[in-house]
Amino acid sequence: MPKSILIHEAGGPEKMQLHEVAVGDPGPGQVRIRHGAIGLNYIDVYTRSGLYPTPLPNAVGREGAGTIVAVGPRVKGFRKGDRVAYCGSVGAYCEERVMGTEQLVKVPAGVSDEQAAAIMLKGMTVEYLIDRCAKPWLKKGDTILFHAAAGGVGLLFGQWAKARGYKTIGTTSSPEKAALARKNGFKWVIDYTKDDVVAKVKEITKGRGVPVVFDGVGKDTWEASLNCLQSRGLMISFGNASGPVAPQPPAILGAKGSLYLTRPSLAAYTATRKDLDASARSLFKMISTRKVRISIDQRYPLAAAAQAHRDLESRKTTGQTVIIP
Ligand SMILES: NC(=O)c1ccc[n+]([C@@H]2O[C@H](COP(=O)([O-])OP(=O)(O)OC[C@H]3O[C@@H](n4cnc5c(N)ncnc54)[C@H](OP(=O)(O)O)[C@@H]3O)[C@@H](O)[C@H]2O)c1
Repeated sequence: MPKSILIHEAGGPEKMQLHEVAVGDPGPGQVRIRHGAIGLNYIDVYTRSGLYPTPLPNAVGREGAGTIVAVGPRVKGFRKGDRVAYCGSVGAYCEERVMGTEQLVKVPAGVSDEQAAAIMLKGMTVEYLIDRCAKPWLKKGDTILFHAAAGGVGLLFGQWAKARGYKTIGTTSSPEKAALARKNGFKWVIDYTKDDVVAKVKEITKGRGVPVVFDGVGKDTWEASLNCLQSRGLMISFGNASGPVAPQPPAILGAKGSLYLTRPSLAAYTATRKDLDASARSLFKMISTRKVRISIDQRYPLAAAAQAHRDLESRKTTGQTVIIP
């Protein structure tokens, strides 16, 4: 029987246990997929820990790539043998699964299962953050700020932003991570565990501040992020790697210069088939034109998913991580 990581209650990495699970045949509109690779994302930590409540026990993992091995009735556009990838649907930490086709996209030749599993969720996140969410605030040549530059989203973000003509300041926690961020498109890197981020950003931007901050770190960077913004700038708070931001009074945005705040999610930006296809097309185009290069920095067997979470949470990983079933 295929193996699957299940959790019976939210908590630490040790709650994730490998079980044999009967997968069954696909129903109407569904396919059965054999995973070639599964993506590791920080959101997997939030669902495992209970920060984002999720129905148990198939609660962890939202991204995978593999091959369709069976097709249910009334499926349109997908066939047995197609190589597909998806992100969104929970329960990805498994060898095989049955799921609907709403979130599936076909993986182009030349992109491996590992690459697709590594970048669907993070790459489409970068697409909507730069090309849709922040776009009205930006013009070519602008300087922007992104936290956790050497992370999975970070290394894709640096390359994508550079390709679009923006100059990006990144933050990281070590010289090794800073070097990696620079290699991936960041023009300046600040060590936010040592340096004063606001002072450095003001120095780089000659006192102006930045029009947009991309903050996936949350609690620890919230205050500095707001203080790095120009008047009427946009704060994009898109994650909580250091913990969730405490509730804030709206007046704080007025006091800091009529700022704008958004808390976006990939799900909302890829909710329709049209948006999902456009986002995936844009991502695969960035890869085929080599504007964005993917390197797999860590691989873990499915049975070692708990270790993958420990390493991600203790800031040991960089860039893209895949789990191999
Ligand atoms: N809203 C959305 O649509 C969306 C979609 C995808 C991802 N996200 C968010 O984007 C962020 C990045 O995701 P990712 O999967 O690519 O993760 P990641 O960046 O690979 O890992 C998180 C990074 O955050 C930094 N960090 C700062 N303080 C931390 C702390 N106290 N504990 C752990 N890490 C800390 C670490 O980098 P340093 O060591 O350099 O500080 C760490 O490597 C996450 O917050 C995620 O939830 C949001």
